[in-house]
Amino acid sequence: MAKIVIENLRKDFGDFNAVKSSSFAIEDGEFFMLLGPSGCGKTTTLRMIAGLELPTSGEIYIDGEEVSQKPASQRDIAFVFQMFALYPHMNVRKNISYPLVSQGMPRAKVKEKVAEVARILGIEDILNRPVGGLSGGDRQRVALGRAIVREPKAFMMDEPLGALDAEFREHMAEELRALHDRMGATTVYVTHDQLEAMQMGDKIVVMNHGVIEQFGVPQDIYDWPATMFVAEFIGSPPMNFLRFDGFVEAGRGRVQVNGHDFLVPDLREGAKGALALGVRPEHVHFSDNGMYRGKVIASEYLGTTQIVMVDTPNGEIKVRTGSEVPVKEGENVGLELNGATLTVFDARTGMALRSAANERILGHG
Ligand SMILES: Nc1ncnc2c1ncn2[C@@H]1O[C@H](COP(=O)(O)OP(=O)(O)OP(=O)(O)O)[C@@H](O)[C@H]1O
Ligand SMILES: [Mg+2]
Repeated sequence: MAKIVIENLRKDFGDFNAVKSSSFAIEDGEFFMLLGPSGCGKTTTLRMIAGLELPTSGEIYIDGEEVSQKPASQRDIAFVFQMFALYPHMNVRKNISYPLVSQGMPRAKVKEKVAEVARILGIEDILNRPVGGLSGGDRQRVALGRAIVREPKAFMMDEPLGALDAEFREHMAEELRALHDRMGATTVYVTHDQLEAMQMGDKIVVMNHGVIEQFGVPQDIYDWPATMFVAEFIGSPPMNFLRFDGFVEAGRGRVQVNGHDFLVPDLREGAKGALALGVRPEHVHFSDNGMYRGKVIASEYLGTTQIVMVDTPNGEIKVRTGSEVPVKEGENVGLELNGATLTVFDARTGMALRSAANERILGHG
């Protein structure tokens, strides 16, 4: 069990700055996600927490103790790799017990621990099987067993499900989350899959180009993105932007886009120039008497819902609506946006403007 605190963590590889001044805290027992596109610095951050890579500057604290420059062996953290390497010539039991045996733990104690881990993972029946012939899921469970059996302070997992096919991946994700809930061990989990992060995580850090774009609980990040990057990276389809040139004023709850007034949560700051009104696809509704209008370009059937592509004077947007709603390509439709859910962005900096709705998330500047 461990609380992990990261302060101003930075990593340079020669001239290249892979992680820029990251700060965040992982509470004891949390399932914590590091999310971002390829190359954003997720693995580097995870490796620094585990002690497999030393930071260029900044601090890492585990349970209040500074470990920034300590080797992995002194941090008591288990690292579960993407390509979970098992010892192919050993059976399941030997693979799981290996870390304990190499610590010199007495045989009887090892046996007891392995039995307990096998029970938690539901693999008691394969303990004597060679790992060679196991299915992907069982191999994954054995690899987890080997990490769990040591009872480390925390687990680091780097895209552990990355190699699995979609259906099985979802199953293992649920299993992993359930396992975490039973054990309550602090877990840091790296993924580039926003759905996986939203489904599994207690908290998420969203990274881009070595920078933390946002840190928080999944719903806050989904509802109130701090940046346009987060707004687009999270959600499928992503948040829509109505782009416009103009100005917005602090203290007002409306913005004017091409002469059309949209209600928004009361703004706490103003801006001018290139702006964007951000709206999730499920917060746009068709309305016969809607004054803001667009033209249907296409639609995509998804079973219970459909995604309708609409061309507007401020760019193409996607609308999520029930699949029973009839839509015709080429049709002119009125659109209404749910004002309480909108975010205004400064499109030049990509930052969300603070409003009555998101200031709890973004802070008070
Ligand atoms: N040992 C290294 N030497 C030089 N550059 C490195 C080294 N390790 C990582 N990098 C670079 O640092 C950046 C971040 O790498 P990192 O592996 O942390 O990204 P990631 O977010 O895990 O990406 P992916 O999703 O592809 O695994 C990348 O541009 C990578 O090329
Ligand atoms: Mg990586």
